[in-house]
Amino acid sequence: MNIEPAFTVLRREQLLMDHAPHSVQFENLTGQLLRTFSAAAVIPPLTMAEIRLYATLALLHDVGKRAIPQEILNKPGYLTPEEFEVMKSHTTQGCELLENIPELRECEAFPLICDVCRHHHERWDGSGYPDRLAGDSITPWVQVVGLADAFDALIHPRVYKPAYPQDQASDMIASGACGIFNPLLLACFAQHIGEIYAVVYSSDG
Ligand SMILES: [Fe+2]
Ligand SMILES: [Fe+2]
Repeated sequence: MNIEPAFTVLRREQLLMDHAPHSVQFENLTGQLLRTFSAAAVIPPLTMAEIRLYATLALLHDVGKRAIPQEILNKPGYLTPEEFEVMKSHTTQGCELLENIPELRECEAFPLICDVCRHHHERWDGSGYPDRLAGDSITPWVQVVGLADAFDALIHPRVYKPAYPQDQASDMIASGACGIFNPLLLACFAQHIGEIYAVVYSSDG
């Protein structure tokens, strides 16, 4: 699949900043997880080209945050239930934003981009949002993006929390503190995250 036509449109619309240091790390983290999970057969097998494709598409998961007010995005401390509902809508608003770009709708990668934008907060037990999908009705590579996103959020500081060290972040993921993930992915994650972390985050950025 050629994702360049879609990426050209997305860059023009300023919806993609694929060279920011944090983006490069997130793409690498997602790629390493996809490669590891595929090799361990806890997700359907992927070719190198597919791993690269999905890792790059992962950069688009939070496109819908463009539609969320800054005061909610950057609020220090916890969100009120109402604010959290608005925050959650970055999934559905991301899809709407993408659907409103006619040229993008023509692109081969469009359904994949919509899938990751809408479903990266779905969780294995159906407790996620917006569609409360469960199990493998969440596309496996999108499950991996959700896992990468949860881990990445833990190891970086946010306005409402400090950065956690790698081992603590991994424990929080494993214990379900960030939502329930596929247990097969989690077992493989626990086994390999130390080495993956060292590879992805050894260079600063
Ligand atoms: Fe998100
Ligand atoms: Fe995210």
